[in-house]
Amino acid sequence: MTHLDIQEAVACVRAGGVEGPFDAAIVLGTGLGSLVDELTDVVSLPYADIPLFPRSGVSGHAGRLVAGTLEGKRVLLFQGRAHYYETGDAGAMRAPIALVKELGVPVLVLTNAAGSVRAHIRPGNLVAIGDHLNLSGSNPLLRDHTEQRFVSLTGAYDAPLRQTLQKAAGKAGIELPEGVYAWLSGPSFETPAEIRMVQILGGDLVGMSTVPEVILARYYGLKVAAVSVVTNLAAGIEGASPSHQETKDTAAEASEKFKRLIRGFVAELTDV
Ligand code: HPA
Repeated sequence: MTHLDIQEAVACVRAGGVEGPFDAAIVLGTGLGSLVDELTDVVSLPYADIPLFPRSGVSGHAGRLVAGTLEGKRVLLFQGRAHYYETGDAGAMRAPIALVKELGVPVLVLTNAAGSVRAHIRPGNLVAIGDHLNLSGSNPLLRDHTEQRFVSLTGAYDAPLRQTLQKAAGKAGIELPEGVYAWLSGPSFETPAEIRMVQILGGDLVGMSTVPEVILARYYGLKVAAVSVVTNLAAGIEGASPSHQETKDTAAEASEKFKRLIRGFVAELTDV
């Protein structure tokens, strides 16, 4: 995607009334889209109306760009994402992330529903992602021919933003352990043997998103924070056999706590 291409998307969202500056952009994962209901001064555009934007076909994902005010801060919400498993393209979220960069938004918060690989991390818990394992075999920067493709992922999950998450969690009385998120392509859930592999490799959570977005965000020089809502024990743990319905239902149940954390985090954001 060239610089010129994304300008069409920028012009389109500006024409639609999405005007910065924004303090943060937030990608809302499966079952977490109701954060948009907490915004005031809302302007919203369907992804289908924005050039280069993905068409999210997964239930639990609305496919809408929503700008507004939360805790006195200007935020840009992505209500729904496109996944690698939908398109075969790990760069499925490249246009939205490039837009964040072009609008000058300094912080990108990625959220997801995830399975827990550790029995002590239970469904309904929130986890701050501290690092990741890319076990998908793909990368959103394949076929990118710029020098920037060799992006460092050391410290990809911004340390000051992780501290801000902890501060917000502490104030809200929410437990927020940190964990390593393992990305597998999906859409089938993992086997119990694959989950044992993730445990041995040091993963704490497993999911089908977020990692390619982190890679793209670092490529564009954005600061990244990421939060998982644990929706289920991963395959085989205590006999678990995950389902998409369980993922959506548990995410919705945990969404009040999730929204309190994100509100607290946004409230704490100072100039970054
Ligand atoms: N595996 C992969 N992705 C997921 C899971 C899981 O168990 N739960 C929610 N997203």
